[in-house]
Amino acid sequence: MERIIEPFRIKAVEPLRMTSPEERRQILEAASWNLFRIAAEDILIDLLTDSGTGAMSAEQWAGIMRGDESYAGARSWYRFRDRVRELTGFQHIIPTHQGRAAERILFSCLGVRDRIVVSNTHFDTTRANVEFLGGRPVDIPTPEALTPDEVYPFKGNIDLGALKRILADSRDEVACVIHTITNNSGGGQPASMANIRSASEICRASGVPFFLDACRFAENSYFIKVREEGFEDRSVESIARETFSLADGATFSAKKDGLTNIGGFLGSNDDQLAQQEEALLILTEGFPTYGGMAGRDLEAIAVGLYEVVEEDYLRYRTASVAYLGEGLTEAGYPIVQPPGGHAIYIDAGAFLPEIEPLEFPAHALACELYLEGGIRSVEIGTLMFGGVDPATGEERVAPLELLRLAVPRRVYTKSHIDYVLEVAQAVAERRREVKGYRIVEEPPQLRHFTARLAPL
Ligand code: F0G
Repeated sequence: MERIIEPFRIKAVEPLRMTSPEERRQILEAASWNLFRIAAEDILIDLLTDSGTGAMSAEQWAGIMRGDESYAGARSWYRFRDRVRELTGFQHIIPTHQGRAAERILFSCLGVRDRIVVSNTHFDTTRANVEFLGGRPVDIPTPEALTPDEVYPFKGNIDLGALKRILADSRDEVACVIHTITNNSGGGQPASMANIRSASEICRASGVPFFLDACRFAENSYFIKVREEGFEDRSVESIARETFSLADGATFSAKKDGLTNIGGFLGSNDDQLAQQEEALLILTEGFPTYGGMAGRDLEAIAVGLYEVVEEDYLRYRTASVAYLGEGLTEAGYPIVQPPGGHAIYIDAGAFLPEIEPLEFPAHALACELYLEGGIRSVEIGTLMFGGVDPATGEERVAPLELLRLAVPRRVYTKSHIDYVLEVAQAVAERRREVKGYRIVEEPPQLRHFTARLAPL
């Protein structure tokens, strides 16, 4: 059969609350025109993030009941550790409450102060953790990643030429290289095995540690299977294992491809590094056999890490995100091509060219999708990355004004996505009426979360 269906049926449901256009206008106005300030109850379809928003399976819920909450040496810990080891091959597994805790522990122990961390693209929290510890994050995405409408199968690749140059010029300054798979900030785009392998070889030749930010490793592995020559007959599990085998370690947020609502880990093979990491873990997360999690979380992740590499699931997952991307393209929206693994990124700068970057076109579009149909999405543009540059005193502008529609795992059906497309179509038809926004009040950091805005 050609039709790809949801490879599950639904056992528990959560009602959605419908609102009228008039209610939504009042709600958004009361929220100072910032979607982060709206109560989730007032959202119909929530595409804010794919992180921690997925639905767990019956087997995972059964795992929640099986969870062993012993402080030390819980049964659930061994299940978790063994599955993570089997999949990644890493000897040392440090359990953390989510991805950013793994990042903080890793960068603290590697010592990034006055040094460089190189990535295809650092995710926000990764970048912030490097900077907070006095390091300098450097992004070197493959050049194809910078042209949204260009179709290229592995836009998540790291620029190997740039990596060689950095290591040749300033090897001693480089604390580590971290390859983000898939590249979230770059459009949810995958990296090829060939690229990950070459980056690993370049790092090993220079003696620089090579890590993966492996949040979406299963989606990345599936793209390798269907897009990279020589992998079509391989299982996703074996592709994932090969990917991990190329790295010295990995940070992982289980809120994505762990198929759970919380959790993460830090893996590596370096005995000395792991010893330091464990000491810091005990200080700030918890004892090494639970870290920042409850026993039941460990159990649910262990199960999730089997389910996430199932090919029926990944075929459905990538097809449903692509379906959203194709529908938006048909409705006239320019998107980052090709569709990514977990989200669609609309190029709002190109869609609303009359709205200046400093009037936040992607934010304006986010507000319209909410007003039209109760959809929540997230601006990734000048509202998120702008603000006054301390060096020049000028307002910074983001390189692209993107709007991300992230799809939670196993939560929405095809008819929900069809509804999103109908709403997007209606907004596209009145795009000339859409106006920009100005900031009324903003905090000094991470302003997009809490800023108050007003329509122009
Ligand atoms: N790395 C990547 C690539 C991510 O996408 C995220 C989170 C993290 C690290 C941090 O993990 O949230 O568990 O601490 N991304 C979420 C998002 C927040 O909406 O894209 P965390």
